[in-house]
Amino acid sequence: MAAGLYIHIPFCKQKCNYCDFASFAGQENRIENYLTALRQEAAQHPAANCRTLYVGGGTPSLLSCSQLEKLIALIETHAAPIPAFTESTFEANPESLPPQKIHLLHSAGFNRFSVGLQSFNDAELHTLGRVHSVADFLRVWKDLRAGGVANINVDLIAGLPGQTAESFRQSLNQLLALAPEHISVYGLQIEEGTPFFEQGFVCDQLLMRAMLEDTRNRLIQAGYHHYEISNFARPGYESKHNLNYWQYGKYTGWGSAAASFNGRTRKQNISSLSQYIQCIGGHKDPVSFSETLTGKAREGEKLMVGLRQLDGVVLTPAQHRFFNEEIQKHLQNGLLIKDGKKVKLSEEGLFLANEVFYSFVAPFEDP
Ligand SMILES: C[S@@+](CC[C@H](N)C(=O)[O-])C[C@H]1O[C@@H](n2cnc3c(N)ncnc32)[C@H](O)[C@@H]1O
Ligand code: SF4
Repeated sequence: MAAGLYIHIPFCKQKCNYCDFASFAGQENRIENYLTALRQEAAQHPAANCRTLYVGGGTPSLLSCSQLEKLIALIETHAAPIPAFTESTFEANPESLPPQKIHLLHSAGFNRFSVGLQSFNDAELHTLGRVHSVADFLRVWKDLRAGGVANINVDLIAGLPGQTAESFRQSLNQLLALAPEHISVYGLQIEEGTPFFEQGFVCDQLLMRAMLEDTRNRLIQAGYHHYEISNFARPGYESKHNLNYWQYGKYTGWGSAAASFNGRTRKQNISSLSQYIQCIGGHKDPVSFSETLTGKAREGEKLMVGLRQLDGVVLTPAQHRFFNEEIQKHLQNGLLIKDGKKVKLSEEGLFLANEVFYSFVAPFEDP
């Protein structure tokens, strides 16, 4: 199966109030050292035969034009020329993507941009701790289209503090009017250690569910394919890179916190920026976690990631053997349904997916 290459850029201008991703604000003075470390890691673990490329973060668009050129050079030296990837995504934030960077990235061969907007409401953006306005996003949108970018994803979040069903609907309306090729809508997760968690913010789960149901109905009506729990695409624009994860494909990750999977073993690099740079500089392995799943644990994980796809999965004989009881339980409680030879999440299961997924992850309950 074709593989994917992920490169993590862990820098952000400011840390958002909900975010627990491995990203750091105020560390721009370390970008050059980080790029040197990335180049060394790439040289030690070249990525041949990758079909998709995803530069994510963090905020990759925070890199200057000369830093982006260094990043492109290391990819082309140790993986492949950017145009050789079937899909090459660059993740960007609205405050740091001027026309020069769009031109540089697009002419290097990046054919997909993913822009984090989160909301079309400036007051909500402020609550989130975002450093951009709606106007910044609209400028970037115009520049991307003017620059000839024909495949754009935009991220939104539902369930924000102070957000109403109406304000969320307005965000969705404004996004639909732009007709992006791909839309990701996430339900807000309150992650431990984030300012939202410290403030004791609790999501109204019923309101969030109503927003996500509304999203699903409106986007399907507008011609989008709801192909993964949080992801919608115009037909043919489903993210190939992310589909590879959900189909248990191989991938290589470069950078701090980046994960790699060779079909058997998953490894994850250390999240700390300074430790990652130090390890690579000292020719030490930056891997902080590694596991090789076999038997029931492997089949369960494969089933769990596969079920994120709305089309569902054809169960393997081993999955039937290991999880028959759990699958029957979820077929009976209506969270899973049968569709020909496949099993998939029901409409109800879409909103209670974690309840289904827990059944397939170790430690397993005794039957
Ligand atoms: C890897 S993040 C970073 C992308 C980019 N730096 C940005 O902020 O736009 C990708 C997306 O995950 C979503 N996300 C991050 N933290 C979240 C949370 N706690 N709850 C829901 N969605 C979240 C946001 O929509 C974000 O755009
Ligand atoms: S949401 Fe994006 S911009 Fe905000 S802190 Fe996380 S990675 Fe950085």
